[in-house]
Amino acid sequence: MENRIRKVRQELQELNLDGVIINNPSNRFYLSGFTGSAGTVMVTEQSAMLITDFRYTEQANNQAPHLEVVEHDLKKMDTLQELISREKLKKIGFEEDFETFSTVEKQLKEKIPSVEWVPTQNLVEKFRVFKSPEELKALQKAVDLADQALEHICGFIKPGMKEKEVSLELEFFLRKNGARGSSFDIIVASGPRGSLPHGIASDKEIKAGELVVIDMGARLDGYASDVTRTFAIGKAGEKEREIYDTVLKAQLEAIEGIKPGISGQDADKFSRDVISAKGYGDNFGHGLGHGIGIDVHESPRLSPISDSNLEEGMVFTVEPGIYLPGWGGVRIEDIVVMEANGVRSLTGAPKEFKII
Ligand code: GLY
Ligand code: MN
Ligand code: MN
Repeated sequence: MENRIRKVRQELQELNLDGVIINNPSNRFYLSGFTGSAGTVMVTEQSAMLITDFRYTEQANNQAPHLEVVEHDLKKMDTLQELISREKLKKIGFEEDFETFSTVEKQLKEKIPSVEWVPTQNLVEKFRVFKSPEELKALQKAVDLADQALEHICGFIKPGMKEKEVSLELEFFLRKNGARGSSFDIIVASGPRGSLPHGIASDKEIKAGELVVIDMGARLDGYASDVTRTFAIGKAGEKEREIYDTVLKAQLEAIEGIKPGISGQDADKFSRDVISAKGYGDNFGHGLGHGIGIDVHESPRLSPISDSNLEEGMVFTVEPGIYLPGWGGVRIEDIVVMEANGVRSLTGAPKEFKII
């Protein structure tokens, strides 16, 4: 954690700032390890603090021993003002993409006018895209748990069950096995609902002969996983197999082809070309993938309009899909890490066409 604070300090020098306040919960966690729901990390050249309230002081001291924990009373801005005076700060950055207009105008600028408040972008996020060995370990644990949940659910799903029963069982499994919860609303989209890329589990009954898209992940030790598998229930026709094979080929070509330094746009193209060649280009309407870590969706992006480059140490999903309204859909999603020679999959769940 100390080296993360050091990196922020270097950034402050580059930006000619005396300090920065970090309120985005994911960035706050990255710099502090603190998991409470309220608190501000303030980093200056000399000091690093976590300002929080009575509910969290003890927890903050336990989770963030590398930071000076300051408890504020009901008037948080007064405490912030005192610290700013103590540290003699004149120019302080805030997170432009997180703070609301009203916080900046009515809290920061109005209550602490002695300071020049400077919007910053990506100040912490730019470090978060590169995962440390400890972060990779945490991610792998979250991915492994999702893999186990998928294996478990294959023995659980039966025709006639509601999608919601399946998502509840998945959620229960994740929590019983150490997760704080699922990392997003679990998608169980069966039969025609499979054409909804984000078809959150509904009351629909799963029937024999349908495909079911299951997209889920665990939130574990502060990190998120995200995996999708599509299964056939009871039996499968030609079309189900053809579409599945196309998506699988698209996914494998991307995993094989993506190398360090490639753009997010070119990475996306590996899968899109396979799917377009089969005539389903218009039915793959989302990007190929997204970075993942503390947030389920973070940088980099893999899509036709991405401005990311994919570098060693980044972790992201590879998740092509084909969605046919009225028929259904197929998506296959793994999490991979970029290494020197290409990507390595963290996801271990099998991908061959499976009838359950
Ligand atoms: N479940 C959200 C996603 O795959 O991005
Ligand atoms: Mn997903
Ligand atoms: Mn995803």
